[in-house]
Amino acid sequence: MEQKYIDEARQGEAYYAPQADVAGQINKKKFYIESYGCQMNFSDSEIVASILQSEGYAATPRFEEAQLVLLNTCSIREKAEQTVRNRLQSFRKIKEQQPSMLIGVLGCMAERLKAKFLEEEKLVDIVVGPDAYRSLPSLVAEAEGGQKAVNVLLSREETYADISPVRLQSNGISAFVSIMRGCNNMCTFCVVPFTRGRERSRDAGSIVSECQALFDAGYREVTLLGQNVDSYYYSPIDGAPITFAKLLSSVADLSPLLRVRFSTSHPKDITDEVLHTMAAYPNICNYIHLPVQSGNTRILQHMNRTYTREWYLHKVSRIREIIPGCGLSTDIITGFCSETEAEHQDTLSLMEAVKFDMAYMFAYSERPGTLAARRFTDDVPEDVKKRRLNEIIDLQNQHSRQSYAQDVGTVCQVLIEGDSKRSATDWCGRNSQNKMVVFPKTHADEAPGTYVDVKILHATSATLIGERNG
Ligand code: 5AD
Ligand code: SF4
Repeated sequence: MEQKYIDEARQGEAYYAPQADVAGQINKKKFYIESYGCQMNFSDSEIVASILQSEGYAATPRFEEAQLVLLNTCSIREKAEQTVRNRLQSFRKIKEQQPSMLIGVLGCMAERLKAKFLEEEKLVDIVVGPDAYRSLPSLVAEAEGGQKAVNVLLSREETYADISPVRLQSNGISAFVSIMRGCNNMCTFCVVPFTRGRERSRDAGSIVSECQALFDAGYREVTLLGQNVDSYYYSPIDGAPITFAKLLSSVADLSPLLRVRFSTSHPKDITDEVLHTMAAYPNICNYIHLPVQSGNTRILQHMNRTYTREWYLHKVSRIREIIPGCGLSTDIITGFCSETEAEHQDTLSLMEAVKFDMAYMFAYSERPGTLAARRFTDDVPEDVKKRRLNEIIDLQNQHSRQSYAQDVGTVCQVLIEGDSKRSATDWCGRNSQNKMVVFPKTHADEAPGTYVDVKILHATSATLIGERNG
């Protein structure tokens, strides 16, 4: 899945729990939910929370007091699955003390591991796949009656278009809005087409209304989410078909004060029309996450990415022509089946040619059921994968440092998100290119949700530090 993943290794456990609900919820049944993996999973947890709240459940941030404990899981790499397994073992221990507690697994691991979880390991009571969240209340009822409750059916239609997500652990300023589900691309390394099913686009009207409602509630930034946003396509019964470029402009038209971002683009599908739309609207952020995966054409073919190194480099030049100064990040996999040393060097040289501002980098992890697992041999030794990964990380660190250092002396517009993590006397927020900016609180007009100009004075490889400009 081509989205920004919370990397288990770098950022610790990738989960969160919702804020406690306010008074008046004392007698309600409580649920606790943790999410792993991509932004789409986090966004799905907000749909699940909405479904459960309308059934009378209240969210709690303490799993000990929950009658229903849910894990929204990720299958993208083996490590993500292992983290979830460990977590389930620890919940199991608590359940021994509180036998009425129900434990449910949601998301991508559900389909893959339902039998194992339910029968062999007896770790969970409920298993629900990404397209079956509407059936969660009835599954909970079944589980309360002592049955094992499972629904992992994938759908060709489900988009949860009519469900208003309950924003979990939100800063009240930026929100994710899901615009499509599933993926038809069949990259050979990727488990997503199997766990999340066929691609389908959500009703454009419901997307625009959700963004309007967020704006009315004080939100100032929406990130439109999909595995491959460029293939968004919605045909209303009574109007012209809506492409991703059209959807972007409809959301951007809601207010110049609403920033619009999106994730993730596919190099084969991103169009000039999208780039021109980005350039035409000051409130569509100048930032593109464009996963390359490899800098070598043979490996790209093996991965079924359907573009070449040259195609990718050409897209990058188009982006920079049409949107000068556009922030660019990527995903890279090292040690894919049969990758040679020379092919690995091609990835390094592509990185040199593009100089990404940021990258998510992974060693290849074979996923059962994928095309690569069935057709190719995972033949690059672990130590070689690790070494190549380290080389890529080292090079990217240099590029990130350079990219951030180049901003020193410039002025950028920042949307204030809240207090900086390190100090309550500083604000933090991001610029259009998605770089985090920290600066001291100095003016009375500053508050989360306001836009300010900041002059950049210093930089690390992941943060810009500045002061108010004017
Ligand atoms: N092994 C390693 N990385 C993977 N990704 C997807 N599948 C795998 C895998 N089997 C990475 C890709 C994708 C990102 C979200 O995760 O780089 O873009
Ligand atoms: Fe992304 Fe390819 Fe996986 Fe689809 S199959 S989610 S495009 S990596």
